[in-house]
Amino acid sequence: MPPAVEVLSNKEALVQRALALVVDQIERAIGDRGICTLALSGGSTPKPLYAALGQQSFPQDKLHLFWGDERYVPSDHPDSNYAMVREAWLDPAQFPAANVHAVATHLTDPAEAARQYEQEIRDFFGLPSAAERGAADLAAAEIPQFDIILLGMGDDGHTASLFPKTAALGVRDRLISVGNKDGQPRITFTVPLINRARHVLFLAAGASKRPALAQVFAAQADASEYPSRLIQPEGSCDWLLDAEAGQSFLN
Ligand code: 6PG
Repeated sequence: MPPAVEVLSNKEALVQRALALVVDQIERAIGDRGICTLALSGGSTPKPLYAALGQQSFPQDKLHLFWGDERYVPSDHPDSNYAMVREAWLDPAQFPAANVHAVATHLTDPAEAARQYEQEIRDFFGLPSAAERGAADLAAAEIPQFDIILLGMGDDGHTASLFPKTAALGVRDRLISVGNKDGQPRITFTVPLINRARHVLFLAAGASKRPALAQVFAAQADASEYPSRLIQPEGSCDWLLDAEAGQSFLN
């Protein structure tokens, strides 16, 4: 499905629009399947959205939270995406701990943390373990469908922890991989897992996103240089931009 781009007047309007879309999709998922699976983005843009979600009245016990990517730091580290969500949403809203599926970044080996996160997702969705299926590329039917995956985009065009020219971009036989940001390990959803989502919602704000957005939406560009181009989900793909980021879409 081609991406839909909405340009909002400012970041506050972007957050309010994102809130309306996410709450609607949460309520639809719960209505259709009894639960909603939501993968969260890191970074700074979504933090006010998480605070606003914590003040909504949907049944939190029917919502399961995952992280589309995580920095490989302790869960109480200032760079932790889990810590950011916990401060903005989980603690203030007393979110049910059993529905919070965070990455085990306390493990020594990031590859083991990726394997364990993949296994937690496979167990949650009732899928065979990765070891049982071997190393062939995943067929769509083997990949779980998250109801909503929130994403941001870096100034370099990365998304989740799929950074330009890194090995994680090419992983097709796993759900979770180890990303690499300037030599620092990250845990990330893979492209196949993101592209199976029912709804992908990108949030991007600020003039610094403009050059990468131009490449992501260009007719031709190198997806290994601008990994957000790789995100072409089976379901809907909405981009919410503020006026500074989305200036070229306004003309
Ligand atoms: C992370 C993210 C990353 C983020 C972008 C945009 O862990 O940092 O998941 O992909 O979404 O870098 O970050 P901002 O929202 O801060 O611009």
